[in-house]
Amino acid sequence: MIMSKSMPATERDVLVIKLGGSIVYRLSEEFLSSLVSMKEKYEVIVVHGGGPEMTNTLKRLDIETVFIDGQRKTTMPVLEVAEMILKGKVNSYLTNQLNHHGVKAVGLCGYDAGLLKASLIDEKNLGLVGEINEVNTPFLIGLISSGYLPVIAPLSCTAEGDRVNVNADLAAAAIAREMKAEKLLYVTDVPGILHEGKVVQETDTEQIGDWIDSGVISGGMIPKVKSALSVLAAGMKEVMIVGGQQEIFQDGKFIGTKMTNKGEVATT
Ligand SMILES: Nc1ncnc2c1ncn2[C@@H]1O[C@H](COP(=O)(O)OP(=O)(O)OP(=O)(O)O)[C@@H](O)[C@H]1O
Ligand SMILES: [Mg+2]
Repeated sequence: MIMSKSMPATERDVLVIKLGGSIVYRLSEEFLSSLVSMKEKYEVIVVHGGGPEMTNTLKRLDIETVFIDGQRKTTMPVLEVAEMILKGKVNSYLTNQLNHHGVKAVGLCGYDAGLLKASLIDEKNLGLVGEINEVNTPFLIGLISSGYLPVIAPLSCTAEGDRVNVNADLAAAAIAREMKAEKLLYVTDVPGILHEGKVVQETDTEQIGDWIDSGVISGGMIPKVKSALSVLAAGMKEVMIVGGQQEIFQDGKFIGTKMTNKGEVATT
C-alpha cells in the first residue's frame, strides 16, 4: 500500500507530466512553450524515462537487455547504467533545457531526500526493479511552493537503502496519486492512442482493456495505459496521452487522447 507523509497542500492544482525517453531530446519549441503556459495554470512535476538511450548504452557495453511484461530486468550493472543515463545524462539535459525556457527546473531522482521509496517486485525474475510505496510529498510541496519545477528520474531505494530501478510510467502514476494530482499527462512520440491510423480523442477503461486484449495497444503503450488505469481506479478523473512534437496545450485544453473511467464525463 502507498503511504504519504502528509496530505498534499498546494495552492494550485498539480499536473504530473511523464516525458518518454523516446521524446526527451526531440521536444518541439511548441511543446516547450506550452509547458510555460501550463506552469501558469498548474503546479507542474516532470518525471522522465530514458528507454531507447538505456538500451543503446547497454548494447555498447555488451550488457544484455531483457524486458519482462514491459519492465526492464535490472542487474547491478544495468542499475549503474540507469544511474548514468537517467540521473546523469537525460535528467541533466532536460533540467537545463527547461531552465533555458524560463521555468525553474530542479533535477532530482528518487534517492534525493528519500523522495521515492520502493519495494522489490520480483527479485528472482526482474532483479532490482521496484514499485513505489512511499513518496516524500512534503519535499515536493516545499519545492513547488517555492516556484521550482521538480524533474524526476525514476530511481528509488528500498526501506533497507538498496537502490532500485522503477518503470517511469509507473513512477509518474505513483507520484500523481500521492500528490493528488488533478491530471497526469504521458508525453510520447505519438500524438495519442492510435486506432486504425487515427488519434483517438477520448476513451475509457473498458475500451482500453479490449484494445490491450485485441493487440490495438501493444509494446510501450501497455505500461502507459495500465498505469493510467491504476490512477483512474484510485479516483483521478482524467489521464491523457499526448505527443511531444506538437503544441499540446491550447486555450487551457490539452490535445491528445483523453482516458476516463467508464461512464464518467470529463470536464476539460
Ligand atoms: N495503439 C497504439 N497507439 C500509439 N502507440 C502505440 C500503440 N500501440 C503501441 N504503441 C507504441 O507505443 C510507443 C510509445 O511507448 P514507448 O515506451 O516506446 O515510449 P515512451 O514511454 O514515451 O518512452 P520511455 O519508455 O523511454 O519512457 C509508440 O511509439 C508506439 O510504437
Ligand atoms: Mg515507455
